[in-house]
Amino acid sequence: MCGIIGYVGKRIADRVLIDGLKKLEYRGYDSAGISVFRDNKIELFRKVGKIINLETELAEKGLNSRIGIGHTRWATHGKPTEKNAHPHISHSKKIVVVHNGIIENYQQLKKKLPASYKFISETDTEIIAHLLEYYYIKLKKDKNISTQNKYLLAMQKTISQLKGSFAIVIMFSDNQKEIFAVKKDSPLLLGIGINEMFITSDITAILSYTNRSINLEDGDFIVISKNKYKIFDKDGKETNRKINIAQIDTNVTEKSGYKHFMLKEIHEQPQIIEDIILTKINRENNEINFRDLNLSKKDINNISRVIILACGTSYHAGLIGKFLIEDLAQIPCEVDVASEFRYRSHNRVIDKDCFVIAISQSGETADTIASFNEIKKLKPKNLMICNVINSTLTKKADNVIYTRCGTEIGVASTKAFTSQLCILFLVSLFLGRQRNILNDKRYNEIICELLKIPQKMKNTIDSITPVMEYWGKHFYQKNSFLYLGRNINYPIALEGALKLKEISYIHAEGYPAGEMKHGPIALIDENMPVLTIATESNVYEKVASNVEEARARNGKMLVIATEGNKIIKNIADFVCFVPKTLDILSPIINIIPLQFLAYFIAEMRGCDIDQPRNLAKSVTVE
Ligand code: F6R
Repeated sequence: MCGIIGYVGKRIADRVLIDGLKKLEYRGYDSAGISVFRDNKIELFRKVGKIINLETELAEKGLNSRIGIGHTRWATHGKPTEKNAHPHISHSKKIVVVHNGIIENYQQLKKKLPASYKFISETDTEIIAHLLEYYYIKLKKDKNISTQNKYLLAMQKTISQLKGSFAIVIMFSDNQKEIFAVKKDSPLLLGIGINEMFITSDITAILSYTNRSINLEDGDFIVISKNKYKIFDKDGKETNRKINIAQIDTNVTEKSGYKHFMLKEIHEQPQIIEDIILTKINRENNEINFRDLNLSKKDINNISRVIILACGTSYHAGLIGKFLIEDLAQIPCEVDVASEFRYRSHNRVIDKDCFVIAISQSGETADTIASFNEIKKLKPKNLMICNVINSTLTKKADNVIYTRCGTEIGVASTKAFTSQLCILFLVSLFLGRQRNILNDKRYNEIICELLKIPQKMKNTIDSITPVMEYWGKHFYQKNSFLYLGRNINYPIALEGALKLKEISYIHAEGYPAGEMKHGPIALIDENMPVLTIATESNVYEKVASNVEEARARNGKMLVIATEGNKIIKNIADFVCFVPKTLDILSPIINIIPLQFLAYFIAEMRGCDIDQPRNLAKSVTVE
């Protein structure tokens, strides 16, 4: 979603800003802009569409400012137009701001300002610039307040009016040396360089300049200049925060020879899963080692119910988690879409013996944060499964298990999903073991098969790539797809359909195969590809019957089946074979062909695979 970068230092600011904004492209955006000083005045440069449009315009300007702020906007309030793009400037052009988050009461606040304040954009952000200026002009007249305090006081007064979430970065036209910022419920961090300082919503934007950063806390006010930074807490007291040193992995932002990040990330999956398994399983006794999980055997035995909260792909991982937890640990489990959960009344049904698991790749998803905040009030035991270290959700949870799959740049989630599945699998096994549900024989059989999964994923990638490329060429012109699966592979049907929708813009629906006859079967004719996950399981025969039913309506039957299945060809038009494994482990393999299929179809359609339209990598607004 929206991205922020601010820079003050020895370099030419617009170049640093554009470079940083490019690193933020992966988050999803539809316009971009920067603001720098020219001839002692604040100037705005904004463009709709890709950053290259902005870069091209700036190339001819010969700007020389050493201070500036920049933003990528993902439209919420008002269409993606140049007027709505950030930065936004105040009434008399004294103050310029960029903002991530949402100001919920911006309409009410507009009415509080004098009528002379004219609003140029449709955004919720512009009010911040005007309010700041309104207070700053008043404070400026007060001779008893130091100039620096005037900036901070104007910010404090403005912030006290705002409802919602925000990370705001500000420049004042009478101050060419400093950038100001404030945050609440939206990530912001300070980058510390040598003779230069940065402020950003995502460390990726500044990693090529510095690996030293400070994660700011809610309510913090920040002032940065070339050689100095100051942080004030929500009470206005100057404070210190811990400096983090990021491990710079240059591989992260490189495609390493792959055409797209998504393709690279699909290929990374076997190695990631192997790393997770080998770090969590003690090979001497096969026991799972969750050092980070602060739950006693008694706590685990007392768990009455598991509640999983997540959105999108992470929600699909959660749905598979339900099967695993109920099967391996025999604990009832429910999974909720976070945006739905947050507005239901739960007080009566949640108690302290519930175990809440929130899942999020980014750790910044607004709905997941809000639902987690809600449920935490009831003090259940809780766990966060997350990829991004130190993200907002990780700070709220009592226990965190990181998926450690590396930065996911492709907007469509792939490696984050399989790593979430792997962690959920290990958590379920761990809970089952602690509750004495799994005897040694079954436990060791499962571990033994789990250890083979990375190699099976590699084999799958090798064998199915040409098959999916062929399917892609064959089906890329279709308008609609139906994905079917049953039991633990029903969420895989949902996830496969989501991948196709996201990156190819083809309508796709995931359905439990047995439910097809209750409605979606009406859609099936010779133009409808029906992709069914029919790998070996206790419901294989049932799924095969569902394939027959769809075939009888002339649907084009595409089937994912287990290697060695000799009869599937009799009922399928196209078959893709995957290696045999346990049913409970099959989702981690079965998703791979569906990721590839979405990829190849999107490629044939000429879509922007890594940055699909309208989508954002981390959805920081409700
Ligand atoms: C789909 C996708 C989204 C995210 C969802 C939740 O490919 O990436 O559906 O899964 O926005 O994001 P996180 O996991 O960051 O909370």
